[in-house]
Amino acid sequence: MNPIQVGLLGIGTVGSGTFSVLQRNQAEIRRRAGRGIEITMVADLDVARAQSLVGPNVRVVKDAREVIANPDIDIVIELIGGYGIARQLVMEAIAAGKHVVTANKALLAVHGTEIFAAAHARGVMVAFEAAVAGGIPIIKALREGLTANSIQWIAGIINGTTNFILSEMRDKGLDFAVVLKEAQRLGYAEADPTFDIEGVDAAHKATIMSAIAFGIPVQFDKAYVEGITRLTAQDIQYAGQLGYRIKLLGITKRSVDARSGELRGVELRVHPALVPMKRLLANVEGAMNAVMVQGDAVGTTLYYGKGAGSEPTASAVIADLVDITRLHTADAAQRVPHLAFQPDAMSDLPVLPMREIVTSYYLRLRVADQAGVLAQVTGILADAGISIDAMLQREADEVVAAGQVAQTDLIILTHDTREGTMDDALARMQALPSVLQPITRIRKEELA
Ligand SMILES: NC(=O)c1ccc[n+]([C@@H]2O[C@H](COP(=O)([O-])OP(=O)(O)OC[C@H]3O[C@@H](n4cnc5c(N)ncnc54)[C@H](OP(=O)(O)O)[C@@H]3O)[C@@H](O)[C@H]2O)c1
Repeated sequence: MNPIQVGLLGIGTVGSGTFSVLQRNQAEIRRRAGRGIEITMVADLDVARAQSLVGPNVRVVKDAREVIANPDIDIVIELIGGYGIARQLVMEAIAAGKHVVTANKALLAVHGTEIFAAAHARGVMVAFEAAVAGGIPIIKALREGLTANSIQWIAGIINGTTNFILSEMRDKGLDFAVVLKEAQRLGYAEADPTFDIEGVDAAHKATIMSAIAFGIPVQFDKAYVEGITRLTAQDIQYAGQLGYRIKLLGITKRSVDARSGELRGVELRVHPALVPMKRLLANVEGAMNAVMVQGDAVGTTLYYGKGAGSEPTASAVIADLVDITRLHTADAAQRVPHLAFQPDAMSDLPVLPMREIVTSYYLRLRVADQAGVLAQVTGILADAGISIDAMLQREADEVVAAGQVAQTDLIILTHDTREGTMDDALARMQALPSVLQPITRIRKEELA
């Protein structure tokens, strides 16, 4: 049988890795797929550079639409990125009856509903293993390997840049801004790191996993997103003293009312979180990624590996190419649904507003070192029904000028409470004259 012909849009970091891994391992990939897979056409803005990467036997064009219009191409790989031209090209490829492979989490998290509906109507596949956690086959695990389970929750370290920064902050005791500069110098953070450090990239990936885990539409606009820019080396150190590491987690969770047992909705949130040091996830260091999934039947499973990079991401892109090569002649009903659940069996379970989520907390209050302050603070927590799990008191580092009141850090770990209850209690504590600085609140996830 002739090889299946693939058109590649964008030959940058992931595109070039995809081309070279496909070439290097072509014989083995053919034996697995049952048919050769060849990139026969490439579109990139820099035609000369692209041509030098793929050699003379591959046609290189500047206009991606030429690739889509080529009737010999069965699969289009979109590796341009962003929501602009990439969205148009993906929609046009679907309309032209091409199967699509993409690593573009931003596009799918924001426009996935439209894209998957168009693909379903046209009878083509849109595959996106590379969009979440790079080389880790987490989409396959969730959609196929864990299909027997009612997924309870997923918690992942799904952004290598921020995990690298947090690891360095802890190891070297440095603050965020210093480590960010170093990460940029080493190539771990981009010149404009906003999407990574503000948690947006992780939220794109969490949004996609949430849809697949619970059979709900992709709803990036409902995700709570908080990055790592306000974390201090001091909080990382205090967390360590209490037996925790701070990680930026992407979390999605089935939320059940503790009393009635009723399903309330889905939590979808990205924020820094204290994770017990003894959990494997707390020990994922540097730029590595890991995703923990809790299923009712299987229990806890953990997936670890490189979440970015040219060839790790290419590994996922090519896995999708092989799947499509095997399945594209099959009846559409035999394929794995895009979002794991049949399109007519999607759930309208709401994504809960942040005030409705339930978790535990780390609080740090810089207070005046005076009698009665502790009683005021714990009194407010008790009034709100928030119980304390552990507490530390540490003399503040800052040197206090003569005549000024001495300061101390109160560090409190709480048990589970509703976020809205905690917000209200925080507002009351912040208003106390003895609380001298904005209170630091970091959520805590036991991941038990
Ligand atoms: N890098 C990773 O490790 C990684 C991991 C997981 C997922 N992803 C995702 O994979 C996608 C690609 O990322 P990347 O890192 O490979 O990006 P990249 O290195 O910037 O590559 C994008 C390529 O697309 C080209 N391009 C831009 N506009 C184009 C157009 N209109 N037509 C044809 N080509 C065009 C660019 O050319 P110019 O350079 O000439 O503009 C560049 O060669 C993104 O969605 C990203 O989020 C990346």
